[in-house]
Amino acid sequence: MNAPHVVVMGGSSGIGEATAAAFAADGAEVTVTGRDQAKLDAAVARIGGATTGFRMDASDRADIDRFFAACGPIDHLVVAVSGAAGSGPFAELDLDDLAAGFEAKFWAQVRVVKAALPHLVPAGSITLVTAASAHAAFPGTAGLAAINGALHALVPPLAVELAPLRVNAVAPGVIDTPWWDRVPAERREALFDGLAATTPVGRVGRPEEVASAIRALAGNGFVTGVVLDVTGGANLPTGR
Ligand SMILES: NC(=O)c1ccc[n+]([C@@H]2O[C@H](COP(=O)([O-])OP(=O)(O)OC[C@H]3O[C@@H](n4cnc5c(N)ncnc54)[C@H](OP(=O)(O)O)[C@@H]3O)[C@@H](O)[C@H]2O)c1
Repeated sequence: MNAPHVVVMGGSSGIGEATAAAFAADGAEVTVTGRDQAKLDAAVARIGGATTGFRMDASDRADIDRFFAACGPIDHLVVAVSGAAGSGPFAELDLDDLAAGFEAKFWAQVRVVKAALPHLVPAGSITLVTAASAHAAFPGTAGLAAINGALHALVPPLAVELAPLRVNAVAPGVIDTPWWDRVPAERREALFDGLAATTPVGRVGRPEEVASAIRALAGNGFVTGVVLDVTGGANLPTGR
């Protein structure tokens, strides 16, 4: 039997890279994408196995078409791309910033999924990487909740409409990845410590833990239409 072909959009860092590494360790043929060639080359070297890198911007229709024209049949598609725009207290939220956030995550993921359809094998899967902020009530995350909630809303109808192809999502809580490099180290550490104190498992997450959830959703042929929280319990209602 041929090794499955797994495409990880946004696979040159963080959760996407850890996912690519998990599939590569299983013997899959893995393609990772990202916009920065140097980052991509370094990730491909770290991931090892039968991994190739393809430089493309998931916000750019021509790049997406160029990618799918070259990539061949896909068994499992994982979409981990995003930007960081759209967060902050709602009263101060710049609506252009929120629109940019939708463009970088919601529209980028939707465009990629739509363009991938002719290339996915019927028994394959799509897994979106969204965020648990979509169904939590953290102050300062209304914009991110809207972006990720819009992606969550797609999952059940697409699972029915595209069947037998399976469609799922993982909704991570706070995960220690390079996404957080934009926050100064001292502030980031304080933020992670504060979150750890209020999270049932007592810490923030690791990219490998989200990767393992993605691997499970893609690998289980009887699971579709599911949004799986990977949060250490951070978004559970406490009754307070
Ligand atoms: N880390 C967290 O705490 C957390 C929490 C909840 C949800 N998430 C979600 O998890 C996903 C992965 O985040 P992460 O923490 O792993 O972030 P990350 O370490 O910054 O990785 C993001 C990856 O996506 C690529 N990428 C971003 N925009 C792209 C685009 N337009 N086209 C192609 N590639 C693109 C990046 O490479 P280039 O920059 O080179 O393009 C990189 O490989 C995101 O959707 C994020 O919203 C993360």
